[in-house]
Amino acid sequence: MNTRDRLSFKNIFVRLPWLRILLIVVAIIWAVLDLSSCTISRVGGSLDVLQVTPMFRHVRTRDLDGKKLIALTFDDGPSEATTPVLLDLLHQKSATATFFMLGSRARSYPDIVKRAEREGHLVASHTMYHQNFATISTGAIKDDIAESRAVFDDILGHYPALARPPYGNINNTVRDNIQAPIILWSVDTLDWKNKDAAAIDEIAHEQAHDGAVVLMHDIYETSIQAVDRLIDEFRDEGYEFVTVSELAKLRGATLNNGVIYYNFRP
Ligand code: NI
Repeated sequence: MNTRDRLSFKNIFVRLPWLRILLIVVAIIWAVLDLSSCTISRVGGSLDVLQVTPMFRHVRTRDLDGKKLIALTFDDGPSEATTPVLLDLLHQKSATATFFMLGSRARSYPDIVKRAEREGHLVASHTMYHQNFATISTGAIKDDIAESRAVFDDILGHYPALARPPYGNINNTVRDNIQAPIILWSVDTLDWKNKDAAAIDEIAHEQAHDGAVVLMHDIYETSIQAVDRLIDEFRDEGYEFVTVSELAKLRGATLNNGVIYYNFRP
């Protein structure tokens, strides 16, 4: 027997039947764990959004009939420390959200950007450098938007479908150049200011309504702690979580570039 024979896979399997059994057992365990951990959000009306795990694709149908809808949105990320924690949480709870990411940060953490999209969330643009567009020149606005679009295109293979200018500051130059529908919000949790999960939770409950777009930031631990309880509580109250595009689609809204949207009430 020469060396090549001895090293071949076939030869190893013939001589070591336990290895074959072991590999089969490992494959079964892998499949079961993967199935149990996978959460696929959604299907409602004509929507069909998948969350895809590395090995398998599962579609878990979720009936949105009669549900109040809410879109959680997270600005200023991705953060290497906190965004993956939030993605884990959303995955575990089968909830989808919208991430208004900064191009500058997306460029640093492309894997987080890809993961968010792969898991059924909507990756949207919060511009490149978080400049206040109300105070910079037209040229600077155009440059920022062009650069951010290129970054997202490079990472995801397409431009972000929606945009949210920093501070919600919008002028005519922004409208004319942003090349996306502008999404603001109807519920401001002030999470960046109070940095307290209970306070964020309280504001969200006070202001929430069917079709709400909720402003949060995925760069604070306290915001993610708040999301952990918000999802369960709002579900108890008959809400379900969708991305902004899903919400718009379910409410029959047509999104146009340069137009501002605050919420999508029924
Ligand atoms: Ni911001």
